[in-house]
Amino acid sequence: MRNSSRPRVLVTGGAGFLGSHLCERLLESGSDVLCVDNFYTGLRDNVAHLLEHPRFELMRHDITFPLYVEVDEIYNLACPASPVHYQLDPVQTTKTSVHGAINMLGLAKRVKARILQASTSEVYGDPNVHPQREDYWGNVNPIGVRSCYDEGKRCAETLFFDYLRQHSLRIRVARIFNTYGPRMYPNDGRVISNFIVQALRGEDITLHGDGSQTRSFCYVDDLVGGLIRLMGAPDDCTGPVNLGNPEESSIRELAGRVIAMTGSQSKIVHSPRPGDDPNRRRPDITLARQKLAWEPKITLEQGLARTIGFFKDLLGPNDGALRRTGREQTHSGRA
Ligand SMILES: NC(=O)c1ccc[n+]([C@@H]2O[C@H](COP(=O)([O-])OP(=O)(O)OC[C@H]3O[C@@H](n4cnc5c(N)ncnc54)[C@H](O)[C@@H]3O)[C@@H](O)[C@H]2O)c1
Repeated sequence: MRNSSRPRVLVTGGAGFLGSHLCERLLESGSDVLCVDNFYTGLRDNVAHLLEHPRFELMRHDITFPLYVEVDEIYNLACPASPVHYQLDPVQTTKTSVHGAINMLGLAKRVKARILQASTSEVYGDPNVHPQREDYWGNVNPIGVRSCYDEGKRCAETLFFDYLRQHSLRIRVARIFNTYGPRMYPNDGRVISNFIVQALRGEDITLHGDGSQTRSFCYVDDLVGGLIRLMGAPDDCTGPVNLGNPEESSIRELAGRVIAMTGSQSKIVHSPRPGDDPNRRRPDITLARQKLAWEPKITLEQGLARTIGFFKDLLGPNDGALRRTGREQTHSGRA
């Protein structure tokens, strides 16, 4: 017999970077958590510390197939998020976003659950409007190498709003901007993890282009807080709502900061910009401030310090072994 006062929460992609932090926070707030993941990029290690928790359950499942469980809330995070991973099998990436959304929306409809979609700033493409507000429709290449992710996520948003209009589902859509923190993967091509790992190993730091392109980086704890606020908001607060840190920094500045904070001797080298790499990215978070009373609290300096600490522990004295086996190979092998 279940205790009906405790929300049962499904987190798809729960063994990934963001998902594992979200599972932790939901457990802390007293929820029952069902973590569903096919371990495409996620790791059992990311949730190993939760496996003994009496309110936590881990299930291997691919959300491109239907799922029948009883839950009150669904956070749909399943999808590879770094270009290295989502471009490896682009058809599967689109399937995960589109079929996955259909399956999770179908589940939400059957069990009358609230459902939140982890969408992305990539729906804005290479934006002509700066900073990006939620009413900007974006500038996305529909046939490029990033389209499997960008268009997959755009289609998922469409499905969420069609389920709202057609079936009165209780939806929330969060457009997540670049987020970083512990449990990022050492070799997945994301800029913060790349720079930190290169700096700690004393390798050259690779800047794409001249490094003048900008990004805004949100620390994972802030982001997870925003997702939980959005899920808890009144049902007319559907979003889409931008969640990210509006503090903008150029990639060149970021590299300098990482070198300084790690005390590294690494040198900066330049490589060509990847296809459809956006020039500028910064969220306008007015809506999140107004509707969710949410804004990031952790500065880039504080967040980088914690993330550098994580990678120092991860690489540690066994760095050589890590390069050949285990965690890193799981990801770099796929790349
Ligand atoms: N981290 C960011 O900066 C960022 C920015 C914007 C949006 N997002 C979104 O947030 C979500 C989580 O991102 P992340 O950074 O934690 O990435 P991640 O790769 O660490 O996590 C994604 C998780 O989804 C799982 N997964 C992938 N396909 C699946 C499938 N078909 N069925 C079940 N599980 C599947 C992976 O194994 C992994 O555990 C993604 O939807 C991503 O698009 C992240």
